[in-house]
This record gives sequence, structure tokens and C-alpha cells, in this order.
Amino acid sequence: MSETLFTGITQLATPKPGPKRGGEMGQLDITEDAALLVRDGLVAWVGPAAEAPTTANEVNLGRRAVVPGLVDPHTHAIWAGHRLADWEAKLQGTTYEDILAGGGGIRSTMRATAAATPEELEQLTRPRLKRLTASGATTVEVKSGYGLDFGAELRMLQVALKLQGEYELQPTLLIHVPPTEGRVRYVQGVCGELIPEVARQGLATAVDVFTEKEAFSVEETRAIFTAAAANGLRFKLHADQFHAIGGTELACELGALSVDHLEASGERQIAALAASDTVATVLPGVTLHLGLPAAPARALVDAGAIVAVGTDLNPGSSPLFSVQLALALAVRLNRLTPAEALTACTVNAAHALGLSDRGSLSVGQRADFCVLAGTDWREVAYTLGTSPVAEVWVQGQKV
Ligand code: NIG
Ligand code: FE
Repeated sequence: MSETLFTGITQLATPKPGPKRGGEMGQLDITEDAALLVRDGLVAWVGPAAEAPTTANEVNLGRRAVVPGLVDPHTHAIWAGHRLADWEAKLQGTTYEDILAGGGGIRSTMRATAAATPEELEQLTRPRLKRLTASGATTVEVKSGYGLDFGAELRMLQVALKLQGEYELQPTLLIHVPPTEGRVRYVQGVCGELIPEVARQGLATAVDVFTEKEAFSVEETRAIFTAAAANGLRFKLHADQFHAIGGTELACELGALSVDHLEASGERQIAALAASDTVATVLPGVTLHLGLPAAPARALVDAGAIVAVGTDLNPGSSPLFSVQLALALAVRLNRLTPAEALTACTVNAAHALGLSDRGSLSVGQRADFCVLAGTDWREVAYTLGTSPVAEVWVQGQKV
């Protein structure tokens, strides 16, 4: 048994365990002059330092604030090539959708990624995960989706599996864009071959679909979700990024883990999410980078939805390498309060991945936490341009 008592915590701010919806999102437990006892990687006790149990092994954190480790529920961290020319074209007025329709965008990253070896992909991805971790991420979802064919999709997930020994990753099979020819056969193959193979090899815990005019239809998404469920995988989707074509309503009807993006969501989609256990994940990096309207996170919280925030780290729509900055941007762009944003990036983001063992510094939860540079927890939401996260601890071990 290993046991450590962490002291020297000016403030420990945490949501309670479990997903939070609506008004509960703003309710944090804040303990001044706190201590945290970690036993075998889990929180064993938390409370005022004056009441802390005694133990042989004590680590003084030096009068700094502590918050739970952040969970990034949405990244495309594995890719090769770059999208700098797309970005410049976009600055000149070409839209993201036009670039995609013209065979560039996601498709150009697919060509570069399919051409890379697994070793190259691993070397490209590792520093990205390192940066996300330094920004406070103690669990990171990573998607496939840049494989041109099924073999390349499996390779991407195998790269994720390899990196799982170094980082706490949650891999997702992403069905991203259809081929330019043979679309019906492609969806049949996804359902009948790719998903069963991913499940058989244990390469992913969930299947994601880009449900959009330029990608997959609602009926194609339904077929893919049905195949995911039949193979014991959870499902989620990219929806309402440019057009609300019905993906959100389908996801809520079928019990998806999350619906991510939501920039184009209106009242119907907000009502569907508020009435469901499906998490509404907003991605402020996309708002900033593509200049899209911000997803209506304020309205979602006010309606009673479970809202999470992610980086959507990818080369095309969100080159955002900091989950702390995603949290801070969600306050500015999506009008969450600092407390709601912390909840969105911890317990709610964990719930979006189907995880209930993390996100809260409460007895029995994983001892994943961030030590901030300052004495006040709100600096995690306040700070822009430099990291307020001084140290990251995973299961009671410093990273
Ligand atoms: O979450 N919109 C779909 N997929 C990604 C972008 C991927 C890319 O542009 O390479 C997203 O925004
Ligand atoms: Fe994405």
C-alpha cells in the first residue's frame, strides 16, 4: 500500500462525482487550507488540513491551489502533414466546407496520414499529448478518422494503443468523411467489417460519426450507431457544426455518449440535449480558429443539459494544444461561468467518455489533479497565454 498526504493547498476546488446538469454545474466544493490523502492512486480523504489524518509520507505543495485533472473528451491528436495553406485560403475568404468539397481539408490530412508509417505517426503524436498533459489533461480522448481506408484507420488506433502506456488515452473510431465513390459500400463495410474488427481487437471504446451535409447523413449515422451497439461499443457524433440536419436528435434518441460541436444548434437541439443524458460537448477552439458562431453552451446549461468542453485538437479546425485554454475560452466565447467551465472539463468531460471514476477529488475517485501556480482556483479559468497549471499528478504520481 502506498499513501501520501498532500498539504500546502490554499484552496481545493472540485465538483462532486458524477455528471452535472444545468444549475448543478456551477456548484463546486471549495475547501480553504485543504489536505488530500491519496492511497494506491485513489483519493482516500479530503478536507481541511487541520483535520487531516497523520501519515508517514507528506508532500507539501507550497501554498498553491488544486483542481481535479482536466479531461479532454475530443481530440484528433494523431495526424501527419499540415493545413497551413488551407488556413491561408480561409483567411482569404474560402470556407472550411468549400475546401473540403474541393478535395482538400480533412481529405488532405487523410492523404498525409495514410502515407505515414505507424512510427512516424507515433513520433508526431507524442509531443502533442505531452503538451495537452502539461496544460492539465490527465485523460485524453483520441480519434482515428484520417485513414483513407480501413487498414489506415486500424493503424491510427494501433498508434493510440501504443501511446496508451505513456498517457491515459481513450481511443475512438471516427467515421469521418465518405469516399468520393462507393459510398453505400463504404458504410456497409464500416458496419460489417471495420466496427467488428475494432471491437474484436479492443482498439476503441466508442464510434464517432461526422454527421453533416459534406459528410454522413442521419440515416447512415443510424446504421453506424446500430453496428457500434451490436458490437458492444458506445457511440457519439460530430453534429450541428455547420448545419443542424438531425444528428443531435438521433444521438439523444439512441442514447449516445455525447454530441460534439453544436455551433449550429437551435432550440430543438438544445431541448433534445436537455431532456437526455447525452453530453453536449462544445469546442471553443473551433469558434476561435474558423470564426464560427460559438456553440450555445449558456443556453444549454440554462435548459438543463450536461455540458462538457474539449480542445478538438486537429490541424484543420482547432490547432489548440491546451485543455486549460479550452476551459478559459469556454468562459469568454461560450459564456460559461468559471465554476461551470471547471465542471465541464472534469466530471462532465469524463461522463462524455463513459468514465465515472475520475473528474472529482472525492473519496474513491482517481487521484488525478492539477497544482496551479497561484493560490486561487479561478486562475485555471482566468489565465490566457501562459499556463496557470504548474504541476500535473496522475493517480497520485507527478507527471
Ligand atoms: O472536429 N468537423 C469535423 N472534424 C474535425 C475537423 C477535422 C479536420 O479539419 O481535420 C472537427 O472539427
Ligand atoms: Fe472533432
